[in-house]
Amino acid sequence: MAQVVEKVVNAAIGDAKTRQMESFTLEDNSSTPLTSYFGVPIAETDIALRAGARGPTVIEDFHNREKISFFDHERIPERVVHARGAGAFGEFKLHTPLTGLTTAKILTETSKTTPAYVRFSTVGGSRGSADTVRDPRGFAVRMYTDEGNWDIVGNNVPVFFIQDAIKFVDLIHAVKPEPHREIPQAQTAHDNAWDFMALHPQSTHMQSWVLSDRTIPRSYRMMQGFGVHTFRLINAEGKSTFVKYHWTPHLGTHSLVWDEALKLAGQDPDFHRRDLWDAIEAGAYPKWELGVQLIPEEDEHKFDFDLLDATKLIPEELVPVQNIGTLTLNRNPVDYFTEVEEVAFCTQHIVAGMDFSSDPLLAGRNFSYFDTQISRLGINFKDIPVNRPVCPFHTTQQDGQGQMQSKRNRARYHPNRFDALPITSPANGGFKSYPEVVSGIKERMHGPKFNEFVSQAQLFYNSMSAPEKAHIVAAGQFELSKCEEHEVQQNAISRFNLISHDFALAVAEAFPQVKVPDAVPNHGRKSEFLSQVTGKNQTFTAAGRKIGIYVLPGFDYAVGAAVKAAFEAASVMAKVVGPGTGPVVGSNGSSLTAEFTFENSRSTHFDAVVFIGGPDDSYVKGLKNGRLIHVIREAYMHLKAVGGTGNAVPWITDICLPGDFSAGAKTSSEVVLENGAVLAPSAGLGAEFAASFLEGVKQHRVWDREVSHIAA
Ligand code: HEM
Repeated sequence: MAQVVEKVVNAAIGDAKTRQMESFTLEDNSSTPLTSYFGVPIAETDIALRAGARGPTVIEDFHNREKISFFDHERIPERVVHARGAGAFGEFKLHTPLTGLTTAKILTETSKTTPAYVRFSTVGGSRGSADTVRDPRGFAVRMYTDEGNWDIVGNNVPVFFIQDAIKFVDLIHAVKPEPHREIPQAQTAHDNAWDFMALHPQSTHMQSWVLSDRTIPRSYRMMQGFGVHTFRLINAEGKSTFVKYHWTPHLGTHSLVWDEALKLAGQDPDFHRRDLWDAIEAGAYPKWELGVQLIPEEDEHKFDFDLLDATKLIPEELVPVQNIGTLTLNRNPVDYFTEVEEVAFCTQHIVAGMDFSSDPLLAGRNFSYFDTQISRLGINFKDIPVNRPVCPFHTTQQDGQGQMQSKRNRARYHPNRFDALPITSPANGGFKSYPEVVSGIKERMHGPKFNEFVSQAQLFYNSMSAPEKAHIVAAGQFELSKCEEHEVQQNAISRFNLISHDFALAVAEAFPQVKVPDAVPNHGRKSEFLSQVTGKNQTFTAAGRKIGIYVLPGFDYAVGAAVKAAFEAASVMAKVVGPGTGPVVGSNGSSLTAEFTFENSRSTHFDAVVFIGGPDDSYVKGLKNGRLIHVIREAYMHLKAVGGTGNAVPWITDICLPGDFSAGAKTSSEVVLENGAVLAPSAGLGAEFAASFLEGVKQHRVWDREVSHIAA
């Protein structure tokens, strides 16, 4: 009954999930005295009971034992994959209904705002590993619909390594740290990973994505997400339409550069987690469009790949993505453990009006998640607040470790003499599996189209811009250089040769002992939707970026304040960096407040860096500091927008980056744009400088900047 009332209240006043979570959230403060687990107020918690001040500690001290014993059992097993992650709450709002295609209200009713939750993750690393390693990112979305939880447990890459879940165990054993010495952590750059990939033709397409910039995202906020598998939508007449799900970020899809990713793994291992947290706290709520590719049932076989093969995408030239709703993340968790570590996603969480396809990878996932969560969280993990649906839930299941609900129903079976827990007909919203016609011989086989492995790998590589291809080559060289066995390098490069002969030759330049096989035919086709530089679905904006504004005491306050204000007006997170945290006093006695210091941050923490000039030569003397010179050189090397005003300009052109700018750049009375650096040597150009600089930030990176002479 209580749950029925809750449903009515939820429908009336929105975010049911927040209210539900709040009822499980404890407020500990100065008016809530410390007690034992069973409510006894505690008078002493710092010194254990002992027989004499210097005597033995006694076992009688239940508070001491409770405290230590609970601590001893604080840890639970980390996820067997995707152990490292970050989560946030938000909402989903449909704007374009899929009327007539599904009975699921979340995809047909535009009036409803549905509470949502997302957990982003890396795949291979342990719970404490670094955020910026090369790895696909998990992109798991839950929608707490009025008809039950709907999870799209996807990745930021639209395809997968393998076609059949029976291979998942082999894949993960191969990519995880090598078992004899547990090295390397959170990396695919080792013999086992590339041995597996080279020996599995089915992973060829995924290899091209793994080596691309997609696996070193700039931010969780700047990643696409994909449901990967083909699912079904089912309408009121029982007709099925195949569907693939896409998430497209409003901030565009952007990546770090590899040197930056490597450095960040040490400088800020929480880089992505922090970025998501900070953006939400700052009110810069990340948003994604939910897009669908819809394929009528009768078109199932019209493609030259199989819709059931998760190593293939559907090129958007063949089936366009239609955006239907917006996901917004607007609330950080209160408690990481209960709200992120204990969340339990599962691909089998779908609602009426949807169904699975017969993708053999999906079938295994539908088993695996629930199964692993039993040992990770205990059989009653459905009662953990973050996992509870917001609609009523009543089952005939009972008991089990950690059971919390007392059920008045005495007949926990079906049917029963009380008519308790009646079933719901499909016409009234009950889930019904799609009555798919199947036939065939029971055998260990896949459909014939599963045996083509190269075409889409070529499509992906062919579609990349020149800098993206160069990054794929460099990634291939890096990964294989960490492999110690020649056979692994040889096999991997032979496989790369199937993607592109030029690519294989380029990677092989770093491996003189490897023989590149003869060229194989390349179909030469490209897709206009796959590149992050030239892709049609790409967005370029300065919004949501973090810019470091560097100031020394005595800086030109008018310029610094104008630049900061202009950045903030463009929804940029403008962060002042000074010699210490707190106020940095400018030339006119006014100050900006530094959040970062020259020592506690690096250029890698920012999307772009700006140095504000000061009154005289003594100011420039302060800039002649190795740490600050390195900021400009490193940001420049990482192809970021860099800039300066006033006398910070000659410091940039002559000391930090000598030889890269024209003679007039440091004396011009206008704002100068050269090599992606924005320079305003003359006073009074704060607003013009900021406008030009934001244009540079918007481009994400200066891809054609020549940096081979810079040591970062
Ligand atoms: C298309 C392929 C796949 C994708 C996109 C994918 C995605 C994900 C994501 C996003 C998570 C993290 C969920 C979270 O944030 O809590 C995850 C976890 C997991 N995945 Fe997958 N996965 C794929 C394939 C598989 C397969 C084939 C299996 C097993 C046969 C599998 C087993 C698991 C397991 C056991 C977890 C840990 C779940 C937990 O402990 O809560 N995955 N996967």
